[in-house]
Amino acid sequence: MKYIDKNLSIESIKVLDVAKKFGTPVYCYSYKLLKENIASFKKNFKTFAPLICFAVKSNTNVNLIKEIRKLGLGADVVSKGELMIALKAGVDPKKIVFSGVGKTYSEISYAIDKKILLINAESKSEIIQIEKIAKSKKKIINVGIRLNPNTDAKTLSQISTGKKENKFGVDEKIFFELVDYSKNSKNINLKCLSVHIGSQILDHKPYEKMLKVIDKIIKKSNHKFAFIDLGGGMGISYENNNKKLNYKKYNTAINKFLKKNKSKIIFEPGRSIVGNIGSLISRVTYIKESDKKDFIILDAAMNDLMRPALYGANHRTLPALKTNKISKKTYEFVGPICESTDKFTTLKKFQKLKEKDLIVMCDVGAYGMSLSSNYNVRPKPAEVLIKGSKINVVKKRQKLKDLI
Ligand code: LLP
Repeated sequence: MKYIDKNLSIESIKVLDVAKKFGTPVYCYSYKLLKENIASFKKNFKTFAPLICFAVKSNTNVNLIKEIRKLGLGADVVSKGELMIALKAGVDPKKIVFSGVGKTYSEISYAIDKKILLINAESKSEIIQIEKIAKSKKKIINVGIRLNPNTDAKTLSQISTGKKENKFGVDEKIFFELVDYSKNSKNINLKCLSVHIGSQILDHKPYEKMLKVIDKIIKKSNHKFAFIDLGGGMGISYENNNKKLNYKKYNTAINKFLKKNKSKIIFEPGRSIVGNIGSLISRVTYIKESDKKDFIILDAAMNDLMRPALYGANHRTLPALKTNKISKKTYEFVGPICESTDKFTTLKKFQKLKEKDLIVMCDVGAYGMSLSSNYNVRPKPAEVLIKGSKINVVKKRQKLKDLI
């Protein structure tokens, strides 16, 4: 994303033109960045050629997932709905893994019928349930067990998943119990150990620690796992500070692990694949002046982009047209929703704005649209994809008649 003649542009297309053609608020994705992200993810781990299963929860757009599938990725899903989207996008079932703590009978049954690669179970009850369903269908099902490695991912507490107080996975003791249980089962084939310690991880050390923990547990379990699913969690740089995860060190630690454990590595990245490819374009509806700051009231709201309200996340915010006139007042960018948390960011010395101006919130490709809702009966925005010289609608804007 760069300014071309004062016009903020995504690839070579002006934000102004996207807004004019498709209206606002609108999510706009860059295919070029998507392709680059996937290529660099593959390159980072090329020594062991992992199976990369895109975490569908980060972006559930079926047309975007189609592109991701064409670039060679599988899918990590956590519900029947996500599984249906992955299949509709043409993802090979043999490249799909199913995670989640509360898979229902119907979800497990559907996953079995679709012959996906792995169901990663997260409790003893779930293993028993999978076995029961598999038995009724007279099938042997490939499963994984998700271990809770009790590793602090040093990320936001709301998105940490690998500590023992989190609901995810099973502890060491139950893990061994489930290994034994699976060995004695006629309908379960234990193929995978899976972990996922959190999201937006920028420090490689928690990953190193996690690998040490699983190495020890595999040794103790005396079981040969065909797959080790290391989850996702690789963070991206949201601010301008360019803070990055050290992939080289993570890769080195995995290679060391693989010397002792000959398994196929699976990853489930979401944010690192789609986070920086998306922008949310929004128009200023009103500017409301107050004593200390001016409220920039946008036509986008927390229902379109939840991350600031939910996690206090800050997304880089830029004007679509550069003027070089700076505002003396602090700006608070808010939406029109009846909640005080419907607020995106507060910025000093932002470019002076006027009503109807366009602004862009950056890096919203992951957990942007997928976390959106219809709160306040607001239709969800359109999603468009820039690919080469073309802009295609990959999901239409919802209409009020869909909601009423
Ligand atoms: N695998 C599992 C089992 C997961 O729970 C997650 C994310 C992923 C993979 C993908 O993680 P990623 O590579 O995207 O970090 N809504 C929050 C993030 C929640 C992440 C939930 N699990 C946010 O907007 O930051």
